[in-house]
Amino acid sequence: MAVTTTFKLSLLFTLISVSLSAIPPTCKHIECPNYDLIQAENGYEIRRYNSTVWISNDPIQEISLVEATRTGFLRLFDYIQGKNNYQEKIEMTAPVLSEVFPSDGPFCKSSFVVSFYVPKKNQANPPPAKGLQVQRCKPVYAAVRQFGGFVKDTDVGEEAAALKASIAGTKWSSAIDQGGSAGHASVYSVAQYNAPFEFDNRVNEIWFLFDLESGSRAM
Ligand SMILES: *[C@@H]1O[C@H](CO)[C@@H](O)[C@H](O)[C@H]1NC(C)=O
Repeated sequence: MAVTTTFKLSLLFTLISVSLSAIPPTCKHIECPNYDLIQAENGYEIRRYNSTVWISNDPIQEISLVEATRTGFLRLFDYIQGKNNYQEKIEMTAPVLSEVFPSDGPFCKSSFVVSFYVPKKNQANPPPAKGLQVQRCKPVYAAVRQFGGFVKDTDVGEEAAALKASIAGTKWSSAIDQGGSAGHASVYSVAQYNAPFEFDNRVNEIWFLFDLESGSRAM
């Protein structure tokens, strides 16, 4: 009896965890970067993104990730509406990615880089614009944890800590700890898939970006 209950419970948890890391609903109607799912576990998944192109704000000094994302998103929204050097309109995509960099400056401000995923159609020649940079990323791995609702500054650190805890001791953890030395200097990134006016089925993710070099202890 107890065994059956345990089995049912673990099956239930498996179902819950599978449904937690589903493809965000937004990606069924707007373009999102494709990835290969390398591993899916309770509490995290490992993805590999092939070469992606992003348009990014210059770093924004802020205390609040929510504020930095709002500022950065407004600039990027203008950009896709045609405020760029080609007056070209670009389709909306997801996610909007807020990379968090540590700051050694005063007042506990961090540095945030807010980026928009450039649709495939525009990747060869994204329109330049003042204050925005095109970033062409090499293939990269991401450890990912999903969470719902509106992103709050108070939750982001907890979600990142939970992701760190769930990958601790796995074969990925040393590669992730070395992420900074491998050119991914951000502490973590927050990927947001929904527009501010969407209230239901909101999906957000914490990403730890990392490389898997040959000879890395992780593999
Ligand atoms: C990424 O690149 C690899 C190697 O070229 C390929 O096998 C894979 O299908 C690509 N994945 C996606 C999601 O495009």
